[in-house]
Amino acid sequence: MTVTLNTAPATARTAANAVAASLKHADALPAWTPELAAELAPLYERVKHVVTPMEWPHYAPLIKAINALKKERNAVILAHNYMTPEIFHCVGDFRGDSLQLAKEAARTKADVIVQAGVHFMAETSKILSPEKTVLIPDPKAGCSLAESITAADVRALREKYPGVPVVTYVNTSAAVKAECDITCTSSNAVKVVESLGSPRVILVPDEYLAQYVQTKTDVEIITWKGHCEVHERFTPEELNAFREDDPETKIIAHPECPPDVIKASDFTGSTAAMIDYVKTNRPKKAVLVTECSMASNVAAETPDVEFVRPCNLCPHMKRISLERIYESLRDMKYEVTVDPEVAERARRAVERMVNLTN
Ligand code: 13P
Ligand code: SF4
Repeated sequence: MTVTLNTAPATARTAANAVAASLKHADALPAWTPELAAELAPLYERVKHVVTPMEWPHYAPLIKAINALKKERNAVILAHNYMTPEIFHCVGDFRGDSLQLAKEAARTKADVIVQAGVHFMAETSKILSPEKTVLIPDPKAGCSLAESITAADVRALREKYPGVPVVTYVNTSAAVKAECDITCTSSNAVKVVESLGSPRVILVPDEYLAQYVQTKTDVEIITWKGHCEVHERFTPEELNAFREDDPETKIIAHPECPPDVIKASDFTGSTAAMIDYVKTNRPKKAVLVTECSMASNVAAETPDVEFVRPCNLCPHMKRISLERIYESLRDMKYEVTVDPEVAERARRAVERMVNLTN
């Protein structure tokens, strides 16, 4: 569908102007005009199944301004699968799970990386591309897993289990990564654990991811009590109720979910693996047991699949909006820095993982 000024209700235009007025340099945002509507029509095509014609006039001027600023600054936007569709499909240059975004951060030729994701992802980008300017649109975009463990905790674990290698999930601070042997993401955790050739491995901080990995390997896994505040809220009862409603519903879960939730699902994998599952298998109905924006992003590309949405939002991911991305590129804020000595040690651990999975 092509959206033009004529089809956009007056209320939407008023709201679009309100967004513009809330920004410091509102005059830098283009106006919502028939020309802009026509210019951005191909982008609206990408999201028309999940963004209403009422919403589009709010987003279009910001999208146009962000894409212009990206050229001016030689910047790229790395958009995580949990970003809302207008970010993910309309301004994201590279989209994916934590591992895919880390790999893009390592190879991009851009001068500036804007991380449309959370702080640990921006730190990973800075670790892998220290010469680049890495920006996060909201520095408060944290993560309950990253908060659950410190570098001192990892040193204490090493003392308690001498000689046992330490794997840390990428959802950790640079300081924690610097203390470990290798990092992992949810898409390569089993491979990383088994690559170490050790009968015992410490895998921190996500207890549920570690328990999931334990079901896939003979290596003994020592866990930590960190949890994702979004995934720990799902229950097997709610999933079973979806299945009872329609037995054909496919339940697809992220490994940060509790073990009884994973047991109640048909497939478990990283956010990228969950998307692949839907695109390849095209179930009639699906539940993505993860942050709820991801279902909108997949629905934009698979209108033939009906998504049942238990909506758990990540409050950290949702701090990233088009407005904040625009301000970030306009004002070159907020720059993410990592102490060079910490970054050097963390880089070894992250690069070891990236090389293993290349
Ligand atoms: P992925 O590595 O699967 O993208 O997961 C990151 C994350 O934060 C999930 O909550
Ligand atoms: Fe962290 Fe969970 Fe949010 Fe992912 S969804 S960023 S693990 S709090």
